[in-house]
Amino acid sequence: MTSVLLTGIGELVTNDPTEGDRTPLGLVRDAALVVDGNRVGWVGERIHAPDADTSVDVAGRVVIPGFVDSHSHLVFAGDRAAEFAARMTGEPYTAGGIRTTVAATRAATDETLTDGVRRLVAEMTRQGTTTVEIKSGYGLTAHDESRALAVARGFTEETTYLGAHVVPSEYVDDVATYVELVAGPMLEACRPYARWIDVFCEDGAFDADQARAILTAGAAVGLGARMHANQLGPGPGVQVACEVGAASADHCTYLTDADVDALASSGVVATLLPGVEFSTRSPYPDARRLLGAGVTVAIATDCNPGSCFTSSMPLCVALAVREMRMSPAEALWAATAAGARALRRDAVGHLGVGAVADLVVLDAPSYIHLAYRPGVPLVRAVWRGGRQVF
Ligand code: NIG
Ligand code: FE
Repeated sequence: MTSVLLTGIGELVTNDPTEGDRTPLGLVRDAALVVDGNRVGWVGERIHAPDADTSVDVAGRVVIPGFVDSHSHLVFAGDRAAEFAARMTGEPYTAGGIRTTVAATRAATDETLTDGVRRLVAEMTRQGTTTVEIKSGYGLTAHDESRALAVARGFTEETTYLGAHVVPSEYVDDVATYVELVAGPMLEACRPYARWIDVFCEDGAFDADQARAILTAGAAVGLGARMHANQLGPGPGVQVACEVGAASADHCTYLTDADVDALASSGVVATLLPGVEFSTRSPYPDARRLLGAGVTVAIATDCNPGSCFTSSMPLCVALAVREMRMSPAEALWAATAAGARALRRDAVGHLGVGAVADLVVLDAPSYIHLAYRPGVPLVRAVWRGGRQVF
């Protein structure tokens, strides 16, 4: 096993605070870190650093944990730029646009889908994402959902079966039969390639009973639950997510006090996707209300061709700070440590000793620059599993 000493770190964010720290970021100044194989072997002030096989000097730059993007829809074909342009001149976003991408995705070869995911994952890597969750949801047949998940599995372990994204046009007059398919034969076909199961619980998609039935069927075959909840209006999504013990309720834009209480008492992570509100010109979720109630708030991109086609976690951090009034520290923690919680992963999202060595070197003296310099390509280097990948 070889070891590498990263030294000259002006500011290191570990997300592993010690007593008395004012933020959960576990900041160390003038720091060093030893990568031992694929793990973090040592962290501390550079003057105390041990020897290693090789060393890399990052010349005073900041080092942060790699971003954990816990919500994306990367397996698709086609383009909806015209829908975006129409939205910018006043058309509302509706769930129905999903069917356009379903038609293009069904018609695409496995190779086209794989190339698309490869391109987007590479884009994410260059922007500092080291863990990504990828959903199906644009196939909506047993064959097309399972092949989407098989493609996604080639890139990540965090794969999510989203057969309940929208009711496909061939079932609009027989929704009950589609729900049986999603919770039955389609689930069976997808299970070998999925870790999670998700439902879009919303007017125009699936209701509370349907969501409950689908998530329960997934749990019975070992899949963890997640939920698209309360995105376009108030609704039962968050409550059902809390009731079934989902890892995360995502979007959370329209919440009642009871929804906030349920998130706080259940420990379900609220994953906010501010790129969606930016790209659909919609009101942002109330992050301060959630944080004030003690809810764990994560941030992810939701990268997809309809509601938000960004792959950039730094953009989402900047939006969280500017538009949702999160502090730069809260937003960075939400995009790393909380993303890991949303995926129930202990060894990523932080740089404590023993963590997977997933880290990002920023061309900046402080992590605050992620929000202070929006749109600027600050990512200088990315290490995943102890290897430099960018
Ligand atoms: O998370 N809300 C449901 N699904 C996606 C949008 C999918 C699409 O419009 O193609 C989302 O926003
Ligand atoms: Fe989504």
